[in-house]
Amino acid sequence: MDVYILGIESSCDDTSASVTKNNIVLSNVIANQEIHKKYGGVVPELASRAHQQNIIPVVDSALRLAKIKKKQLSAIAFTRGPGLLGSLLVGTSFAKSFALGLEIPLLEIDHLQAHILAHFIQEENKSHSVPNFPFLCLTVSGGHTQIVLVKDYFDMEVIGRTIDDAAGEAFDKAAKIMGLPYPGGPHIDRLAKHGNPLAFHFPRPRIPDPDFSFSGLKTSFLYFLRDRLKENDQFIENNKHDLSASIQFTIVDILLSKLLAASKKTGVIEIAIAGGVSANSLLRETILKQKEERGWNVFIPELQYSTDNAAMITIAGYFKYQSGQFADQKVSPYSRSGN
Ligand code: KG4
Ligand code: ZN
Repeated sequence: MDVYILGIESSCDDTSASVTKNNIVLSNVIANQEIHKKYGGVVPELASRAHQQNIIPVVDSALRLAKIKKKQLSAIAFTRGPGLLGSLLVGTSFAKSFALGLEIPLLEIDHLQAHILAHFIQEENKSHSVPNFPFLCLTVSGGHTQIVLVKDYFDMEVIGRTIDDAAGEAFDKAAKIMGLPYPGGPHIDRLAKHGNPLAFHFPRPRIPDPDFSFSGLKTSFLYFLRDRLKENDQFIENNKHDLSASIQFTIVDILLSKLLAASKKTGVIEIAIAGGVSANSLLRETILKQKEERGWNVFIPELQYSTDNAAMITIAGYFKYQSGQFADQKVSPYSRSGN
């Protein structure tokens, strides 16, 4: 029998709902919260309020686009964590009451596992190849940077992690220093297309493989610009393309070197990338090149499944549904991994 799942994602500043039929996505609706732009970052209190306003219309349009009636749903999946607690509470409470009202099971999903499981999303009339277990996944988002050895759908071992900032934070903080809007990653990506990646050199962190550190890079970028601005107050404006290309090149170079170390250490050449930063065009290009250069089997998610979305929650829910891993009504969200 076909399994229809409604998934809800509300861990940060995007309210998203999706419906799947087995492993096929029928709809994936995302409402971005514009309100945070003027504050230069996500304001947690405003995020949860916006989730409350968005959640019903977003779920409603996900069901309509999928042409599925509430009564046809087999289960409700929701992001339990990690993320902003107030935001997670909106999605969690909504999912719980919806499941209770419809008398169907509830599936609790870890946001980071879902980013990885996004690789198993299929679309109607458009099948694509999926990674084989075990594979390595570089999960790079605004809050996390990890290299995960994925042995099965829910058997994942984190073998490398950041000791301070996440890769997305490195992009966003560099962008903020340059006066670009939040989130800065996509702006740096766009400006870098017309810049020289070798125009400026920034030091790489000295930290044992395959762990990451990005806070030193942010500081050296800040001090470098502070010194240059003393000589020329138009330095950023005159060099924004080269600055973007150089900082992007440095971040991607660090990510690739750690991924290479992890592949060497584990002997795994089945390689995937996931999370918001996996939307970065240089990272995608660089990982794809390793196909020829190192014989890696490379998996890159479609752009709409790289950044936060509910389709990844729904697909993770489908695999949990199949193995009977249901949550009960007492389930509560967690803000950090490992809780
Ligand atoms: O996974 P995600 O949507 O949300 C979290 O779970 O954090 O990731 C958001 C992060 C932000 O830091 C954003 O700047 C970054 O992903 N990002 C990018 C690009 N698109 C999104 N970073 C670099 N290049 C991009 N094209
Ligand atoms: Zn995310």
